Amino acid sequence: MSTCLGIDVGTSSVKVVLIDENQRVLASASSPLKLSRPREGWSEQAPEDWWKATVAAIQAIKKQRPKHFGAIGAIGLSGQMHGATLLDPSDQPIRPAILWNDGRADKECLELEQLEPRLREIAGNIAMPGFTAPKLLWVKKHEPQVFSRLAKVLLPKDYVRLKLSGDHASDMSDASGTLWMNVGQRRWSQELLAATSLSEEHMPKLFEGTEATGQLSQSLQKKWGLARRPVIAGGAGDNAAAACGIGAVKPGGSFVSLGTSGVLFVSNERFSPNTANAVHAFCHAIPKTWHQMGVMLSATASLEWLSRVMGEPAPRLTKALGERPKGPAPLLFLPYLSGERTPVNDAKARAVLCGLGHETDRKVLTHAVLDGVAFGFRDCLEALKKAGTKVERATAVGGGSKSKLWLKIIATVLGIPLDVPVAGDYGAAFGAARLGLVASGREAAAILTRPKMSQFINPDERMRALYEASYETYGKLYPATKGIIRHG
Ligand code: XUL
Repeated sequence: MSTCLGIDVGTSSVKVVLIDENQRVLASASSPLKLSRPREGWSEQAPEDWWKATVAAIQAIKKQRPKHFGAIGAIGLSGQMHGATLLDPSDQPIRPAILWNDGRADKECLELEQLEPRLREIAGNIAMPGFTAPKLLWVKKHEPQVFSRLAKVLLPKDYVRLKLSGDHASDMSDASGTLWMNVGQRRWSQELLAATSLSEEHMPKLFEGTEATGQLSQSLQKKWGLARRPVIAGGAGDNAAAACGIGAVKPGGSFVSLGTSGVLFVSNERFSPNTANAVHAFCHAIPKTWHQMGVMLSATASLEWLSRVMGEPAPRLTKALGERPKGPAPLLFLPYLSGERTPVNDAKARAVLCGLGHETDRKVLTHAVLDGVAFGFRDCLEALKKAGTKVERATAVGGGSKSKLWLKIIATVLGIPLDVPVAGDYGAAFGAARLGLVASGREAAAILTRPKMSQFINPDERMRALYEASYETYGKLYPATKGIIRHG
């Protein structure tokens, strides 16, 4: 018997799953993480907390399934992307990690593109403040004492790998979000590194997500009581890992993720950038495969915001609206609570509620937030279309996909059916565990399959024209408010 552990270093928690050789989930556990916002627009976490949370979740798994735990043969890693984890020569974090949803490096994005005018061509992406490289320019400028001690820059999941195995390693999909990679050629770019006064010495070694980067350290093997030293797979950034979890690995395989951030993801057989519309073009977790994403910064985060303001849990807010859309809300919501990536790439933009009246109540506000996030996804779909990518249907994943109403609205606004997998655990941690199985010798095509679907949510044809008109009006909100509603 051999089992496999998948670890996802998320933003709100570290999640760990244990699967067997037949991909049955034997146990899962998560341990919460705190996020610190020391200034408006900033977002940080202590790397040591990722490790503590990982160990806590692993201990919980061990308790649930001691025998299967002892038989772990492989570990796969996934994690929140882009976070700058800065280490000194003895591998100690020099400062808190600066995360994917941190907007402080706005000015540095412009500077970076001036320092290396070929950036978009090489990296296949626009310099956005959430990405890693601009953050390093910010640190160099504002915290020179930190920059001068810098020996390595790692991504969140790769810091956990370092603690597990002692290796400085990363995978192609996660590393694509640093802006230091030549994404088309799947290697570090000396030019892009030089633009931030760094070199390959500061970078981890690159692997494919399906390759083994090393093995668990002997000391942890002993401490955790494992029969052997598991191999550790390259793994993937959380979106590519989620794609592995639901088998979106062949060209055209796609998903809509309703998590803190919102992601429309499509697999491509070729590297296909579209920087004009802030499409993300990254390597996939499997060799010779790439993917595109439209990324919204606040998807369920928008509903969570409303729930905080209203003092009512999000599921109660949505439940009050029933299960079927009754047409678009009479109010428009632009979900740019912490700026937006696709399609506008504007860290300073802020959200807008437009059309408030005396009659506006909790239900209307909730409805407007659900619609606004759906329109944000539609913008992502249009951006992908402009990059030549057709999305014909997509699998719905993420916490927000539990709301049937929200899925129906999104399917209607996108004009494509959404497939809902049968109840189960297909998230990034599961995808990471699958990559662990592949790294230990199993065949990718046999492992990275699609789950059974339980529901097919079709667009509501009666509502399409109404939603289309509302989307058109939504499209006027950002240009109309751009000059007046800005942070910083
Ligand atoms: C993708 C991105 C987010 C994070 C969330 O570019 O920034 O989806 O990976 O964890």
